[in-house]
Amino acid sequence: MRVVIAGGTGFIGTHLCTELDQRGHDVVAVAREPTSAGLPDGVVTKAGDVTDRDSLDPLVADADVVVNLVALSPLFKPDGGDEMHDRIHRQGTANLVDAAEEAGVDRFVQMSALGADPNGTTHYIRAKGRAEEVVRDADPEHVIFRPSVVFGDGGEFVHFTKRLKEIFAPGVPVYPLPGGGKNRFQPIWVGDLAPMLADGVTEADHAGETYEIGGPDVLSLRDISNKVFDAEGTSISVVPLPMGLAKVGLTVLGSVGFPMGADQYRSLQLDNVTADNDVGAFGVREADLKTFDEYLGLTGAGDAADATATA
Ligand SMILES: NC(=O)c1ccc[n+]([C@@H]2O[C@H](COP(=O)([O-])OP(=O)(O)OC[C@H]3O[C@@H](n4cnc5c(N)ncnc54)[C@H](OP(=O)(O)O)[C@@H]3O)[C@@H](O)[C@H]2O)c1
Repeated sequence: MRVVIAGGTGFIGTHLCTELDQRGHDVVAVAREPTSAGLPDGVVTKAGDVTDRDSLDPLVADADVVVNLVALSPLFKPDGGDEMHDRIHRQGTANLVDAAEEAGVDRFVQMSALGADPNGTTHYIRAKGRAEEVVRDADPEHVIFRPSVVFGDGGEFVHFTKRLKEIFAPGVPVYPLPGGGKNRFQPIWVGDLAPMLADGVTEADHAGETYEIGGPDVLSLRDISNKVFDAEGTSISVVPLPMGLAKVGLTVLGSVGFPMGADQYRSLQLDNVTADNDVGAFGVREADLKTFDEYLGLTGAGDAADATATA
C-alpha cells in the first residue's frame, strides 16, 4: 500500500511512518521543511504545504491512503494569531482532502483531537471540529482519531510543563496553574498510539469510524505536574492561578517568548478524557498500555530508555 503522510516528519508522524515501513508499506512523509531525521531509510520525504493547494497534487497522485498529521500546537499562541488554527487545521485539511479526492485516493485518515467541536470554546477545538466535518463529507472513506494528550520522547507536553514552571515560578516549590490544574487528561504513549493509527490506515473494518483514544489513567494537570517534577526528584505544590493574575502572567510569558493567550488559558482548563476509550477496536486492552508513571520511571516497571522523559 502507498501511504502519504502530511506531517509525517513530526512527533507522531515519525512513529507512524516507522510502523508502516516496518509493515512493508511504501511511505511518503510530507512537510514544509522535510527532514529524514528519525525516519527509517525506506521512508521518502517530500516538501509540501497544506495551505498551498497547488503543492499537493503531485504529492498524493499515486497514494492509496492519505494521512493528515499536520499540527499547530494548542499550547502556544500561534504566530499570526489564533485564527491560524482555522488556516492550518480546517483549510489545510480541506486542501488535502480536495487533492486526495481529485487523485481518487481510497482512504483519508484524519488526526483530530478529543473535544473537537465546530462550536467549541477555543480556536483549536473549533478548527479541529470543522476539519472533521470536511473529512466526513469527502469522497474517500475516512477514519478519524481523537487522541488525548500524547507523550513520548520528542513530544512537547512534558517539556511544556517544565518550561511553564521555569518561567512562571522559577526557583520556588510552587506551581500556579489555571483552576489549580483540576482539569483531567488521559495521556497515551506514542508507542501505543502508532500501531493503532497504522491499523486505521490499513484495515478495512475501520472505514467510516471516529475513535476516541486515551491511555490507561485519567490524571489531572496537577497530578501530571507533580509526577513530572517527582521524576526529577523535586517536590512542588500546585496552587490555583486566578484569572486576574493569569492575565498578568500571560503578558509576562508573551514578553519572554512563551506565547500564551486567553485561548491557551482556556484550553488548560478543559477536560481531555475519552467518553468511552476506543482502544478495544484495535484489539488493545487499557491495562496493556504504558502508564505515564512507567514512562517517567516512577514505578520501576518502565522502559529504561524512556525514563529520562525528555519529551
Ligand atoms: N501531540 C499531542 O499530544 C497531540 C494530541 C492530540 C492530537 N494531536 C494531533 O496529532 C497530529 C500530529 O501532532 P504532532 O504532535 O506529531 O505534531 P508535530 O510534532 O508538531 O508535527 C507537525 C508536523 O506537521 C508539519 N507541518 C506543519 N505545518 C505544515 C503545513 N502547513 N504543511 C505541511 N506540513 C506541515 C510539520 O513539519 P514542518 O514544520 O516542516 O512543516 C511536522 O511534520 C496533529 O494533528 C495534532 O493536532 C497531537
